[in-house]
Amino acid sequence: MVMSFDFLSDKDRIFTNVYGFQPWNLKSAEARGDWDNTKDLIAWGQDKIIDEMKASGLRGRGGAGFPTGMKWSFMPKESKDGRPSFLVINADESEPGSCKDREILRHDPHKLIEGALIAGFAMRARAAYIYVRGEYIREAQVLQAAVDEAYEAGLIGKNAAKSGYDFDVFVHRGAGAYICGEETAMIESLEGKKGQPRLKPPFPAGAGLYGCPTTVNNVESIAVVPTILRRGASWFASFGRENNKGTKLFQISGHVDKPCVVEEAMSIPFRDLIEKHCGGIRGGWDNLLAVIPGGSSVPLVPAAQIMDAPMDFDGLKEVGSGLGTAAVIVMDKSTDIVQAISRLSYFYKHESCGQCTPCREGTGWMWRVMERMRTGDADISEIDTLYEVTKQVEGHTICALGDAAAWPIQGLIKHFRPEMERRIVEKQGNPPMMEAAE
Ligand SMILES: Cc1cc2nc3c(=O)[nH]c(=O)nc-3n(C[C@H](O)[C@H](O)[C@H](O)COP(=O)(O)O)c2cc1C
Ligand code: SF4
Repeated sequence: MVMSFDFLSDKDRIFTNVYGFQPWNLKSAEARGDWDNTKDLIAWGQDKIIDEMKASGLRGRGGAGFPTGMKWSFMPKESKDGRPSFLVINADESEPGSCKDREILRHDPHKLIEGALIAGFAMRARAAYIYVRGEYIREAQVLQAAVDEAYEAGLIGKNAAKSGYDFDVFVHRGAGAYICGEETAMIESLEGKKGQPRLKPPFPAGAGLYGCPTTVNNVESIAVVPTILRRGASWFASFGRENNKGTKLFQISGHVDKPCVVEEAMSIPFRDLIEKHCGGIRGGWDNLLAVIPGGSSVPLVPAAQIMDAPMDFDGLKEVGSGLGTAAVIVMDKSTDIVQAISRLSYFYKHESCGQCTPCREGTGWMWRVMERMRTGDADISEIDTLYEVTKQVEGHTICALGDAAAWPIQGLIKHFRPEMERRIVEKQGNPPMMEAAE
């Protein structure tokens, strides 16, 4: 195996307690460098912090990859009507395959709380609301205990960290709905309503939580902020390719020898990521079938195309998929690929909030057809119909759940149509006409 990639060294890791080898508490967090002169960072002032975040090249780690510094700059610099501003931190992490934010919540919560203060200050926010996935019971307990510690130590609350800035942090637990991870559904849920996405505009930076200017950011996006400011934008930007900067928590599950969550430099080639951190593909590289590289919402990529792809926003776009949350689901040749995608279709059908017709009706329709594709009880012409329906759902809904339901099926049809046809032909009692895609 030839390894050419410059792997991230321990000295450059932001998350030094991602495996929980040390306690999560304030004393240990301070020993790891958290809360070290936070006051000095705040003294930079809002504009300099935002400029530094822009220069770092950080793109949101919640899936869409929107530049973080630019997003913050959309927040109002002054309140003309007395409305406060808010930061909402998205700890809903319900995307199948995603499991990185929970490691921050339970093992490194002070990085997130310090990041909330600095990011909140930069956006002139009065408070941060951390919305935690309902199933993350222990994680929410640890996070709340860390927030209590931070209040007790004077790091948040009035005159937070002696900066002269008042800032509150609230932990809010969700009830276990995937759609509440969508930023406007999250805002509705925080307000005590049913978690259903809002139509945009208005965008949250204009009218978000309680009708006030709001920015929603992912846990990882916020937790990396203090280290970026301490070590400098150019340090962070020294990792990864242009437009794809920084370090990133990758979450590798499925048919690898050692599934794991690991922080690596962006743009690491897929093969190097798996060899170095996961002990290789189960049964060897020839046994790899396909990979879903960014969580269940992105299209799968067949083995041959992913092997040398850089694991970043642009690299995965080039192979027709996306980085998403960097939740890498590896499938070897023992996988029933049609069944796997059908199971995802069921997930999206189950999680649709039902507000818009193409998603409410389309997700159920697509799942039912996918089930017939799985058992071979479909007509070959239905593959094209199924594809057309995914195109009718994609881009025609209030939120991106519709796209997320359409893309896995599109990826399946694009790369594994012969396998879908083979099942149908076999079920009809005819000899198989085509070989499965490699
Ligand atoms: C259906 C759906 C579910 C989502 N779930 C999450 C989630 O669990 N966590 C998250 O950070 N972002 C999630 N997002 C993306 C958020 O809407 C939002 O873009 C993100 O929190 C912004 O943070 P970032 O800019 O730091 O990436 C989801 C989006 C959709 C459409
Ligand atoms: S796309 Fe689906 S989940 Fe999103 S608002 Fe419409 S019905 Fe709800």
